[in-house]
Formats: sequence, C-alpha cells, structure tokens
Amino acid sequence: MTASLEEVAYKLAAGGKGILAADESSSTIKRRFDAIGVESTFENRRDYREMLFRSEAMSQYISGVILFDETIRQNAKDGTPLVKLIEDAGSIPGIKVDLGARPQPGCPGETITEGLDGLGERFKEYYDLGARFAKWRAVIDIGSHIPSYTSVLANAQALARYAALAQAANIVPIVEPEVLMDGDHDIDRCYEVTEWVLKEVFQQLFYARVKLESTVLKPNMVIAGKKSQKQASVTEVAEKTVRLLKNTAPAAIPSVAFLSGGQSDEEATAHLDAMIRLGGLPWNLTFSYGRALQAAPQKAWSGKTENIAAGQAAFTHRAKMNYLAALGQWTP
Ligand code: 13P
Repeated sequence: MTASLEEVAYKLAAGGKGILAADESSSTIKRRFDAIGVESTFENRRDYREMLFRSEAMSQYISGVILFDETIRQNAKDGTPLVKLIEDAGSIPGIKVDLGARPQPGCPGETITEGLDGLGERFKEYYDLGARFAKWRAVIDIGSHIPSYTSVLANAQALARYAALAQAANIVPIVEPEVLMDGDHDIDRCYEVTEWVLKEVFQQLFYARVKLESTVLKPNMVIAGKKSQKQASVTEVAEKTVRLLKNTAPAAIPSVAFLSGGQSDEEATAHLDAMIRLGGLPWNLTFSYGRALQAAPQKAWSGKTENIAAGQAAFTHRAKMNYLAALGQWTP
C-alpha cells in the first residue's frame, strides 16, 4: 500500500530519525571532492553515495535521503539502483527539484531560485523513479540593505508554487527558505529576517492552497553570522529558534527538519538536542543535514576503496549523534 502524503511528511521526522541531504549539485559535490583530493567523476560520485546508502546508519537513523537528478537515476556498482538501496534500508528517497539560485534582476546581492517551468512533468518522472518527497531551496542573504521585500516575496511565491505542484504529483514538498549564516550580523538580526521570511512563506503557501499537514519545513536555525564578533550560546540559539518557530510555523506542519548551513558537526547536533530538551513542541523537530552529516565520512573515505568501512563508520556516528539529539538524549 502506498503511504499517504501526510504519512510521508510525518515519517520524515518521527522517532528521532532525520534526513540525509545528499543532493549536492555537480558543482557543489566537485567542491567537496576537491577538498579531499578526489576527482568528481560519475563513478566516484556513485561510489561515494553508494558507500553512504549501504551504511548501517540508513536503517537506524535516516528517515529519508534527498538525491540529485544524477543520483536518482544511478545504479550501484553491482547494478542495483541506488534508490533501491535506500528503500531496502526502510528509508524514503527524495529529490531536489530546484535548478539553483540565480541573481535576481533589480536586486543587487540577492537571488531568486529557478526551476518552476515544466516542474509538473518532472515531478511525474521523479515519482516513477521512486521519489516520495522533494526539496526546493530559496536563499536569503543578510546584508546592510538586504533582504529586500521584492526578493523575499518572489522567493516565497516560488516556494509556494513548487509546493502546490509537488502535492498535486503526490510528492511531499520540503519547503526550504534558507537565511544564510555567512555574514557578520548578530543572532537578533537573524531572528528578525528569518521571522519575516517564514511569515511570508506561510502566507504564500496559504494563497497557493498548499496542505500544511503534507508539508515539511526546512528552516535555518536562529544563529549569529559566521563573521559576527558576538557568537550566541547553545542555549540562546535553541531558545530563540524555538520561539521563532512557535511564532511562525503552524502546528499543522508535522515535521520541521533543520539545515546545518555551515555550523560545525557538533554545533549542529548540540543545537538540535537543546531545542528538544526545551519540550512542549507542537511539531517533530529533526535534522536534514548535508555538511554536518557528510564532512566526517568524506574525510575518512578520501576516495579510497580501503577506507569505505571507515567512511561508513564516520557517517553512522554522526547520524547516531543527531538521532540522539532529535530525541533530546545526546551527551557531548
Ligand atoms: P547543509 O546542512 O550543508 O546546510 O545542507 C542542507 C541542505 O539541503 C541545503 O540545501
């Protein structure tokens, strides 16, 4: 029996499990591979992702995997579709469908995410390839004069149109409006901008008639910019993020799964754990990490067959730490 959209949306953040964001585009995975001295070839990308999908972490800690277009069509070395490895581990395959953030005309320093044209047709194909959920990422940067209303609105409308198309194709949309942590702003400025962005996103989801019960929110945490002199404590990040979400994300949303956004592996885990420990949350909170789950296995693997077991152990360790955090049971 096929699971309903509500069931899939709920399952993605239930029981402490979380999402592996393995949907790096060709240029992003090349950057990651450059950092470990591995050439970004079709085979190396396959070997790396096959290593992750065959690891112990998958059946225990990973509810779903976000894939890139190449990966959802790719087979493991022995010919098994990578999607099947994910399904066999009891995890749900998902697909990144946006085509990236491009400079937005009239809005210096800002971007608009592209990929709406033909998306209904693409969703049909992705469903047939096994995808049961999808992701679209809007990118909002913080600067002295940005974000602008023009950019916040356009990105929120695009997210809403994407989410409506996904649900029409029987696919759960992950709605990801990412407020970047690249700047030198403090945590309160991040709070203010993220609150505005999420208010606008939920307004546009309403106008687009998107069903919140069948939607997953993937937000940034409320955190100081990386270049800020004033870094916030774990407790402050947890309290401000939860306060913000209570003010913006309706309780009808079953699952909220954070991006890691450039936080260190351990920070991303500690922040999630501290939020769960606050208690009284109306949604299940979990992780949907890319870098904070993959930096360690990438380093341990470094493109060498003899390091596959070490890469899998590193991935399983990070996944387990985040699983414990999502249950509020992590200890440093
Ligand atoms: P990070 O956890 O590395 O931010 O990646 C998550 C993601 O999917 C960004 O779109």
